[in-house]
Amino acid sequence: MSGCNGGRCFGNRLYPGYNRMKNIFTGPALCLAPLAGYSDAAFRLLCFEFGADFALTEMVSAEGLKRETPRTVKLIRKIDGEGPVGIQLFGSNASSMAEAAEVAAAVRPAFIDLNFGCPVKKVVRKNGGARLMRNLNLIGEIACAVVNRVAPLQVTAKIRSGWNREEENYTEAGHILQDAGVSAVTLHPRYRSQAFKGEADWSHIARLREELDIPVIANGDVKSVEEYRKIVGITGCNIVMIGRGAVGKPWIFAEIKEGTKWICEKEERELISPEEKRKMPGLKAPSGIMEKIDILERFVRMEVELKGEDLAILQMRKRYRSFIRDHYRMKDYRNRLSHSEKLDDVLIILDEIREEIRSNE
Ligand SMILES: Cc1cc2nc3c(=O)[nH]c(=O)nc-3n(C[C@H](O)[C@H](O)[C@H](O)COP(=O)(O)O)c2cc1C
Repeated sequence: MSGCNGGRCFGNRLYPGYNRMKNIFTGPALCLAPLAGYSDAAFRLLCFEFGADFALTEMVSAEGLKRETPRTVKLIRKIDGEGPVGIQLFGSNASSMAEAAEVAAAVRPAFIDLNFGCPVKKVVRKNGGARLMRNLNLIGEIACAVVNRVAPLQVTAKIRSGWNREEENYTEAGHILQDAGVSAVTLHPRYRSQAFKGEADWSHIARLREELDIPVIANGDVKSVEEYRKIVGITGCNIVMIGRGAVGKPWIFAEIKEGTKWICEKEERELISPEEKRKMPGLKAPSGIMEKIDILERFVRMEVELKGEDLAILQMRKRYRSFIRDHYRMKDYRNRLSHSEKLDDVLIILDEIREEIRSNE
């Protein structure tokens, strides 16, 4: 693993003077995956506070963005306190992707990411996402068009292992992307035919890393410190992207950093005094349900501020389950939370949970 700039490894929120934007892909780094319906600005901010080094927006339609429709423009909004964010685009037309990338570049993202992995029917039917793994010429054309349009802004791409086992072509795709000038490639090592089923085959990531000169970002099935260690051991990658493992658990980044004594070089860790360490609240995973409830409350409040009460509370409904899934007697509360309509309803339920926990202590 290479070292970090200036011995400061906690991301630029906690050390405002530290700027790792220039060499964001030299790692080591942990990154929040693009997650449609989940990786919005408030959630990304939480992940940054818990030690994510960079993050992606959910996939944004190039056709929508080039027309600057309000819905798509909202998806690329960044909020104060966030670290480096890449904007992910999907589409199947090189000039539309380039135009959209230019619109995205105007909000000064850390980089632009190209989606060549989405398995969803709605997207592949229009020749986007993973469908492009069947048309590597077009992948090359899109990547070239976007790289040329937004240079010197960096461009990355996210691919799958192929359309299906018979059409495995991630190494060819990787070479084409590298030749087109992308700065890094993320591999989610499943075929489109698997969608999210089965296990991610990390050996594909190891092979791609050996093949390419540009950084490869490892992704797929990392939900714990143990799995983080394994993926790094198998792939040799020092940038790991986490998706589902962060949903309901934005502190996974802190857990990994704490659990692996992350700091890039051991000596650098020792440069940080215990007093300084105590001042780094974001890097401590919550120790119990009470803290998780506090984090959830802050999250809901941020969502309401950003999206307005009706939309935010509606969209939050799917999130409560994963946030408090591991705790006893939470089923009733979760059900009530999932039917709540107003912020006040949510706050009342969260207070009831706190009260019950206190009375059981
Ligand atoms: C709900 C959901 C939404 C996703 N949205 C996107 C997306 O917008 N763009 C993308 O490239 N991948 C998307 N993915 C795939 C993830 O980024 C990631 O590659 C995949 O989930 C494997 O990583 P994980 O095991 O860490 O979740 C999505 C996955 C899920 C489960």
